[in-house]
Amino acid sequence: MSRKLYIKTYGCQMNVYDSERMSEALGGQGYVPTDRPEEADMILLNTCHIREKAAEKVYSELGRLKHLKAEKPDLKIGVAGCVAQAEGEEIMRRQPLVDLVVGPQSYHRLPQMEARLGSGAKVLDTDMPEDDKFEGLKGRTKAKRGPTAFLTVQEGCDKFCSFCVVPYTRGAEQSRPADRIMAEARELVEAGVREITLLGQNVNAYHGHAGDLAGLVRDLAGIDGLDRIRYTTSHPNDMDDALIAAHGEVPELMPYLHLPVQSGSDRILKAMNRKHTAESYLAIVERLRAARPDLLLSGDFIVGFPGETDADFEDTLALVRAVGYGQAYSFKYSARPGTPAMERKGQVDEAVKSDRLARLQALLAEQQAAAQEAMVGREVTVLFEKAGRMPGQLVGKSGHLQAVHAEADAALIGTIAPVRIAAAAPNSLKGELLERV
Ligand code: SAH
Ligand code: SF4
Ligand code: F3S
Repeated sequence: MSRKLYIKTYGCQMNVYDSERMSEALGGQGYVPTDRPEEADMILLNTCHIREKAAEKVYSELGRLKHLKAEKPDLKIGVAGCVAQAEGEEIMRRQPLVDLVVGPQSYHRLPQMEARLGSGAKVLDTDMPEDDKFEGLKGRTKAKRGPTAFLTVQEGCDKFCSFCVVPYTRGAEQSRPADRIMAEARELVEAGVREITLLGQNVNAYHGHAGDLAGLVRDLAGIDGLDRIRYTTSHPNDMDDALIAAHGEVPELMPYLHLPVQSGSDRILKAMNRKHTAESYLAIVERLRAARPDLLLSGDFIVGFPGETDADFEDTLALVRAVGYGQAYSFKYSARPGTPAMERKGQVDEAVKSDRLARLQALLAEQQAAAQEAMVGREVTVLFEKAGRMPGQLVGKSGHLQAVHAEADAALIGTIAPVRIAAAAPNSLKGELLERV
């Protein structure tokens, strides 16, 4: 009888991708995935360390798993991901029910680690070996899959923004060779994928192709059946001329870009070690929009970085007004162990952070609503992904990554169809299917 594996994923898309690959790797050990923890023989938490709240979730989830282990002593519990990397030994100390701790760079060793668990051993691996972990993992399963997929092309970060744990949890920047990525993309397309989102902590610092990320995007666009390409997350300083040009020239590259800026204050950007200014960011946005006028921008913001004054925060609001985002994520600064910003003077009061976050989010919500409203009456293409909540309705994404609902036959799932947008809500659009011409 096969054993069952339950994986719970926190954090960014790279964790989503890693969870898929871990599940496939453990498939070789006889595990089949389940979405019910109570029937699992192994539970893996794929964790995130980015903010304090994210990291705390792991310990509360482990607490909740206690009763399952009590009922089923053979149940194996593992912690993977960025908390595993950052706090591996502490997890083992704090939570004796944990059998396995595996850092993000060691997933290719999972099958061997799993084998050792059988004899009742506890296993911890938070090495950062030089080799490409994905090459040590099994090939992608051939099973039919949904029309969209993530594909990690780059890992790690050398930027060391002063607030961020990622360079410590994911290690140095590393790019996967282009031929391997092309092969994986072809496998995905054969399994039914029409849209691929290329992933990396700094995806535009990809150097595994002679033409960097732009070269890779152009090659991928040549794959028959791959109709849509996206990439995330980018750093403004790696937004080179070739990549900006690709946004204007490669029709498969979708008109949506997540380009975090974090703050609009040069003083704070300097303290964050971002190595760009508000002005240089705005200049990149302008060039991107010159290349692709309908580009929808998204961003990340941190409020209440140590030393942030009211005037600094006003600069952030001014930058947001200057850009006009279609979507954005914003966070209160969270002091993270081991990062330089944690040692800075001038930690901002929680109440001030909350107030600034509310003001920023109100402005961003206004911009998002305007961007949604601007779609009404327009014809777009939608890649239908699944049935909607209402009978007879399908849901999919526009090129601008907006959720679109439309009445359509289920046979259209996995296909791209023209739709006219009839109405807008803050987080979704309602469309009418158009006849194909
Ligand atoms: N590599 C990506 C994403 C990093 S994490 C990038 O550079 O954009 C995603 C977002 O979390 C960051 O963009 C930042 O806005 C936020 N973040 C990272 N560390 C944080 C911290 N210590 N406190 C609050 N937000 C943080
Ligand atoms: Fe973190 Fe900065 Fe690297 Fe993004 S670029 S992962 S925010 S250190
Ligand atoms: Fe979190 Fe690690 Fe991703 S800290 S955001 S899971 S890279």
